[in-house]
Amino acid sequence: MKTSAIFSLLTLTGSGFVAAVPAGNGHGGSGTVPKANIRNGTVHGRYSPEWNQDFFLGIPYAQPPTGPRRFRPPQHYTQGLGNIQAKQTGNWCWGYRGDQWEYPQDEDCLTLNIVRPAGINYNSRKLPVAIFIHGGGFLIGSAHDQRYNMTFLVDQSVKEGTPVIGIGINYRLGGLGWIASRQVAGTKNLNLGLKDQRVALHWVQENIRAFGGDPKKVTLFGASAGALSIGLHQLAYNGRDDKLFSQVMLLSGAPTFFATPGFPETGQARYDHIINYTGCLNETDSLECLRGVPIATLNAAINSTAGQYIAPTIDGEFVSGLPSESLKRGRFVKVPTVMAGTTDEGAGYARQLVKYETEAQLRGWLEATTFFKPHMLDTLLNSTHYGDSVSIPSAADFSPARPNDPGSIAHGDQYHRMAALLGDIWFIAGKRNYAQRLAQFGVPVWSVRSNVLPNGYAAWSGAVHTTDVNFIFNNLESPGYDIGGTGVRVVQNPMGGPRANQFKDLADFASRSFVRFFARGDPAAGRKSGDVNWIRYKAGGSSKANQIVWDVDDNGIKVHIEQDNFRQAGIQHIIDYHLQGSY
Ligand SMILES: *[C@@H]1O[C@H](CO)[C@@H](O)[C@H](O)[C@H]1NC(C)=O
Ligand SMILES: *[C@@H]1O[C@H](CO)[C@@H](O)[C@H](O)[C@H]1NC(C)=O
Ligand SMILES: *[C@@H]1O[C@H](CO)[C@@H](O)[C@H](O)[C@H]1NC(C)=O
Ligand SMILES: *[C@@H]1O[C@H](CO)[C@@H](O)[C@H](O)[C@H]1NC(C)=O
Ligand SMILES: *[C@@H]1O[C@H](CO)[C@@H](O)[C@H](O)[C@H]1NC(C)=O
Ligand SMILES: *[C@@H]1O[C@H](CO)[C@@H](O)[C@H](O)[C@H]1NC(C)=O
Repeated sequence: MKTSAIFSLLTLTGSGFVAAVPAGNGHGGSGTVPKANIRNGTVHGRYSPEWNQDFFLGIPYAQPPTGPRRFRPPQHYTQGLGNIQAKQTGNWCWGYRGDQWEYPQDEDCLTLNIVRPAGINYNSRKLPVAIFIHGGGFLIGSAHDQRYNMTFLVDQSVKEGTPVIGIGINYRLGGLGWIASRQVAGTKNLNLGLKDQRVALHWVQENIRAFGGDPKKVTLFGASAGALSIGLHQLAYNGRDDKLFSQVMLLSGAPTFFATPGFPETGQARYDHIINYTGCLNETDSLECLRGVPIATLNAAINSTAGQYIAPTIDGEFVSGLPSESLKRGRFVKVPTVMAGTTDEGAGYARQLVKYETEAQLRGWLEATTFFKPHMLDTLLNSTHYGDSVSIPSAADFSPARPNDPGSIAHGDQYHRMAALLGDIWFIAGKRNYAQRLAQFGVPVWSVRSNVLPNGYAAWSGAVHTTDVNFIFNNLESPGYDIGGTGVRVVQNPMGGPRANQFKDLADFASRSFVRFFARGDPAAGRKSGDVNWIRYKAGGSSKANQIVWDVDDNGIKVHIEQDNFRQAGIQHIIDYHLQGSY
């Protein structure tokens, strides 16, 4: 499978609120141990006096997917759990890249975390709910990662006068969550990671009232593979609306991702390797055999295939067909949507590949990893599309200019051109296509391009994939970026440095906008006078496709509106001839 090598790279990777004294019916509140009576028991959380918040961490939302439940869709609890201690986050799901290795991992990982403002009378009030689905290329990541710490966003929501409840969910990763092959096809055991997410969403519908949440006001937001997942929930079951969410926010990802979903056979080589490695090769029911393999052996087998293509799969049900086709036909859940992304989505990945000094080498890479036919590559690399001068960041934004900048010297003369191509093919064309399609079907859409270079990134490097996440989470102290050991965190203090004040202001603006979106379905509704306005992304040509650009300079934040028509010919060529379903 052509996409395997490149796809694996995707794994980069107290408030002043005062309210009524709470009633004592188990909803907790300021100073007490918070608890919630849910259908399967009583959840005992932890009060954070520092933030005046209630934390309910590591709540199991489905039975552990272990033993006979391994490689099967998640199962609801069918019996009472009594008292559920939810004071600490607990295990991450097994993941197969560096992000994971310092944390406790286990197959028993289907949990979610809830963070809510304390001191609210939840008897008389139901709060909007925001559920975060993490990214990590479907191979790594967790709701427990402190980069996705909900405290700051929940705190901001209280300050903005629109308090919300924040939730983060775990789901199975790598081979445990996305096993696919001929043998798995037809057993209903494809797309387990998506099914985990879906069961968590059902759990929220059934139980969030007990925590003071409004099940009718649920926003899904997620980054990268999380955003892709959210898109697939919008398209799931042929666009059937199960009323699991009322609005969505996709950060650096869309269901029209360039290479997904695959077909069951896409995972065949990987599956064959795993059953061979574990001694299940000759079993008539190899999947059943894998359920009996010790997790250490199974993990070693999966781990030795981590570079292989792994992602959602077309199963004819959950992922009913090619997302690009469903979109054309309007078969998706039409709810208010925010699309966000960064300027230089591709730069971090381009840097990990070999040095490309010549166009011939660049072309060789495109031939090996994309579906473009040779004559389409001629057009793609033409001066009318991605000619030699195309660059991310644009040449005006860094000096010394190519070929004397550290980026070109370290990563090859074609590096900046490759960054543009890779970012557009992998992310930006999909984002533009998704925004256009939603708008075409009358869905309210807002789009963001984050052009901010966080602390620690050189000017030649660009605002790479997911550098907007801190701003959205209002994560100023950046817990989660400072873990040592594996060195997978590129930058340890992204919100510090000489522009820390501007970052703080931008994070304030971004997070306030999005808590308003959580509460009202519109990031502009309820904004304070003097705030930057938001503008809707409309169908009908690039003059109507307006998006908001986040930026800062030495003097302050620089948020402005642009038309989403940069690299128009090139990106349209990708949309027309490369996005899944159109080649
Ligand atoms: C547990 O919760 C599920 C729904 O999530 C429900 O179907 C089941 O009846 C509950 N059982 C008990 C004993 O609480
Ligand atoms: C988020 O981080 C802050 C600061 O490190 C910490 O006080 C708080 O407990 C964290 N919240 C959660 C839910 O982990
Ligand atoms: C199974 O693994 C062995 C040892 O690594 C290898 O020699 C053999 O070719 C593999 N068989 C298949 C069918 O992949
Ligand atoms: C599987 O069957 C093949 C051919 O029948 C045989 O060569 C091989 O040793 C068997 N492998 C295992 C693990 O039993
Ligand atoms: C995968 O391999 C790496 C490197 O050898 C190792 O550190 C990690 O613990 C392994 N992960 C699993 C889940 O086995
Ligand atoms: C490349 O651009 C030139 C100038 O616009 C045009 O004449 C030529 O036909 C283009 N070639 C391809 C392959 O698109």
